[in-house]
Amino acid sequence: GDYGGQYRPQVHYSAPQNFMSDPNGIFRDASGTWHLYYQYNPLGLSFGNQHWGHATSKDLYHWASQPIALGPPNRHTTALFSGSTVVDRNNTSGLFPNQDNGVVSVFTLAGRDPDGGFGGPQVQSLAYSHDGGFNFQFYEHNPVINSTSNQFRDPRVMAYKDHWVMVIAYSRDFTIGIYTSPNLLDWTHASNFSLHGLLGAQWECPNLIQMPYIDEECHRQDDVWTLFVNINPGGPLGGAVVQYFPGSFNGTHFKPVDSAARTVDSGKDYYAMQFFNNIGPGTEVEYPVSIAWASNWQYTQLVPTGQEGWRSSMSLPRRHYMTKIKGVGWKLVSQPYNLERVMGDTLAVQKNVTKEVVAVEFSGVKSNAVFWEVNITGIPERALRSLSLNVSFVSPSTTESVRLAYVFGGVDFDLYGGDTPFSLDRGGAKGFDHRFFTHRFSVSSPHDDGTWSASGVLDRSLLEVFIHGGIETVTSTFFTQEPVAVVLFSLSPDLPKGLSVDLRVVGLNSA
Ligand code: FRU
Repeated sequence: GDYGGQYRPQVHYSAPQNFMSDPNGIFRDASGTWHLYYQYNPLGLSFGNQHWGHATSKDLYHWASQPIALGPPNRHTTALFSGSTVVDRNNTSGLFPNQDNGVVSVFTLAGRDPDGGFGGPQVQSLAYSHDGGFNFQFYEHNPVINSTSNQFRDPRVMAYKDHWVMVIAYSRDFTIGIYTSPNLLDWTHASNFSLHGLLGAQWECPNLIQMPYIDEECHRQDDVWTLFVNINPGGPLGGAVVQYFPGSFNGTHFKPVDSAARTVDSGKDYYAMQFFNNIGPGTEVEYPVSIAWASNWQYTQLVPTGQEGWRSSMSLPRRHYMTKIKGVGWKLVSQPYNLERVMGDTLAVQKNVTKEVVAVEFSGVKSNAVFWEVNITGIPERALRSLSLNVSFVSPSTTESVRLAYVFGGVDFDLYGGDTPFSLDRGGAKGFDHRFFTHRFSVSSPHDDGTWSASGVLDRSLLEVFIHGGIETVTSTFFTQEPVAVVLFSLSPDLPKGLSVDLRVVGLNSA
């Protein structure tokens, strides 16, 4: 594919052409190759004719696009929806005699109506691969879980002790079913998890993950099982959102620690988050790693990347653990994974910034993608609202911008009428107009210990922000008419004594 184009991300994965959505069946094989499959319409720039596209990588940034891995047996009657992939190392399925690297993908085969819609039954089927995940054949006795429902999908399978576990969404019943199997072929319903947290209109793409837990004193504690549930439509900002529930899991039942609803990302372009299989505690890659689809169903089929022949990219790969935050309790931490693989030349490093405005021009960076970072220390307990930091990404020719604003005053409801300390505004980008392309996002971001930090990746039409070490993230697409080529840090005058602001901007190398 041609990975040029003003909007085409350079360090985030996008399919060579046409419409891509959810990451599917992502796993790491024993040789260290990461496999990314994804919802893919090879025939057009919007949803439909869903196949599983495929790409592979050694580092999660430099991807080789592979031939389509899986397609529906007959695209007029079915489509291949989301699902997951496992390595059947011990040949529990019997599909892999004399092999310890057999690959099994489990997915929803979605039935189509005569008019092409998706009102038909959603059943769970298998395909298996003898060559490590490149060529697949359908299992002879599909489906492995039958159904007459058109709202039963997105099986996510994992190994648990001596058996396999599947979590799957009964989408309009706001229920996650938990199934078990000794062999990936015969599945038994074990329990349901229903009606917790945010409901929205549908639940989709569940993941159940054993999460490392690092407490506030940075001590590793017992892992905490965490259930991720994707909602669309009906997220708090409209459209798609990912929520999660920390809890416990005994192989058949999941029990949340409390009834709180927690969302993973505070932007609007972060959905269908999926975790890589075949990694985690006890493996070479100890911490869970995820990828999400960096878009939102509300406008994904209309975004102007269509002019460049492609739609949607993935998020950065993220590494995760759970922590606890004073006053808030359990919190998922998300950080870019392996980003050093694409780090290039340092464009600016400034310690103890005193100037009110620091502009870093990066039109010389070939990828037009940068990493940036701000670290603040010595924040007084009651900083004044007038103290603020803005980080703007500006198109010099049109002055369009995307702006992050941080107000040191923080959450002080009496003084500020409930203002939140951190916000993002993509309304200054003029290349796309849609009634649900929300412009402003606000995020609560604590800084109890007098420090605060934010960093992120700006990648042509995608901005991913990691606040305070990743306890909050904001993922946002934006579409300027002309490319962004300046990072502008602006500080309010008269910073309090003891406050120190450090900045860094680094060019990224195209993957
Ligand atoms: C989530 C989703 C899944 C479904 C897939 C179809 O974005 O709606 O529930 O399997 O997309 O492309």
